[in-house]
Amino acid sequence: MPSRTILLNPGPVNISERVRRALLRADICHREEEYTRLMASIRSRLCEAFASSGFTAVLITGSGTAALEAAVASSAETDRAILVVVNGVYGERIARMVTLHGVRVVEVAGEWTRPPDLARVEAALRSDPAIQVVAMVHHETTTGLINPVAEVGWLAKAAGKSFLVDSISGLGGEPLDLQAVGVDLCVGTANKCIQGVPGLSFVLVRHEEMARLASVPPRSVYLSLPSDWQAQEKGEPLFTPAVQVGYALDEALAELLEETVPARIARYAGAAALLRNGFQRLGLSFLLPPLLRGNTITALELPAGVSYTRLHDQLKARGFVIYAGQGPLAPRIFRVANMGDVSAEEYREFLVALEAVLSLGGGPRPPSEPPPEVARAKPALEATRGSDVASTP
Ligand SMILES: Cc1ncc(COP(=O)(O)O)c(C=O)c1O
Repeated sequence: MPSRTILLNPGPVNISERVRRALLRADICHREEEYTRLMASIRSRLCEAFASSGFTAVLITGSGTAALEAAVASSAETDRAILVVVNGVYGERIARMVTLHGVRVVEVAGEWTRPPDLARVEAALRSDPAIQVVAMVHHETTTGLINPVAEVGWLAKAAGKSFLVDSISGLGGEPLDLQAVGVDLCVGTANKCIQGVPGLSFVLVRHEEMARLASVPPRSVYLSLPSDWQAQEKGEPLFTPAVQVGYALDEALAELLEETVPARIARYAGAAALLRNGFQRLGLSFLLPPLLRGNTITALELPAGVSYTRLHDQLKARGFVIYAGQGPLAPRIFRVANMGDVSAEEYREFLVALEAVLSLGGGPRPPSEPPPEVARAKPALEATRGSDVASTP
């Protein structure tokens, strides 16, 4: 039994004591220079961590969805369209936002366990000149699939479109070179791989893109990136910010910069490998083949006869919180995230607990039998990528 509850959900995550202590700093007024300094520090650390030069950061008080909706609502004119790549719950959510904000959506939707069809993205861009923005999710939290942001980014740039990426569960856990990929708007949040607490989110915006956004008529008082940016540049937030969450985010970013982003990504990749070796040893079946999996979420088939509720409750009683599947995958899968300040020893304790819970009944599929998705996906992946997808867990 671990000494604390270990969160294996994809955020909010376990945080360090250093970040937790930051929550207790002095009460301050957000219209005073103390807050101006805090906001400036967070915005510059975000750019230092994720954007190098050429970008500016806009902070939004609200969960990741708030920053995402601000980016979507601020980015296209009403007589234009946004192309949204959809292969999971979060891609679907972007498409819904586009529609609700009165902009035409062009969906390129595909199977949730597959990367998007790039030829369809290219064809849609060619046939519909009204498309102004291409939007997609970097790390699809629904399945843990890493989407081909670089490839879609190149298509968007070749067609002269703005490129909006939801990297809410990606930043800090997956490599993403905003310059190289041609990202114009990148959305992130405090409480996933950055290891802050929930309540603040942000958009990293290319300078030229911010100039373009100023000419898009605003659709929202609260979720307008140019308005927020102008105020934040002057050192004042437009609305009351989550001050204490900001303290924690600033500290979490300092911690991240000390660890370095590549080392954070490597730590998460190491944790995922440790867990996946354990899952394979226990005979569990993976939803995705290895090449499609990111560093921080593993989606697993529920073993025959095991209900998610039972698995969840028995693991929670032992100190571990796992995560359910979403949408049509809900009856079939469960997810284990490895984000946050969790040690290798705690992940090993989780594997011991999982083995104990599974041994209570309804055992998993034997290890020799590959999950149907792996069997189906392998030939297609080998054809496109030329490597053995089933070699590692
Ligand atoms: C890819 C992605 N987009 C958007 C969201 C929504 O973020 P939030 O729940 O912080 O609003 C999530 C949350 O898990 C996510 O993983």
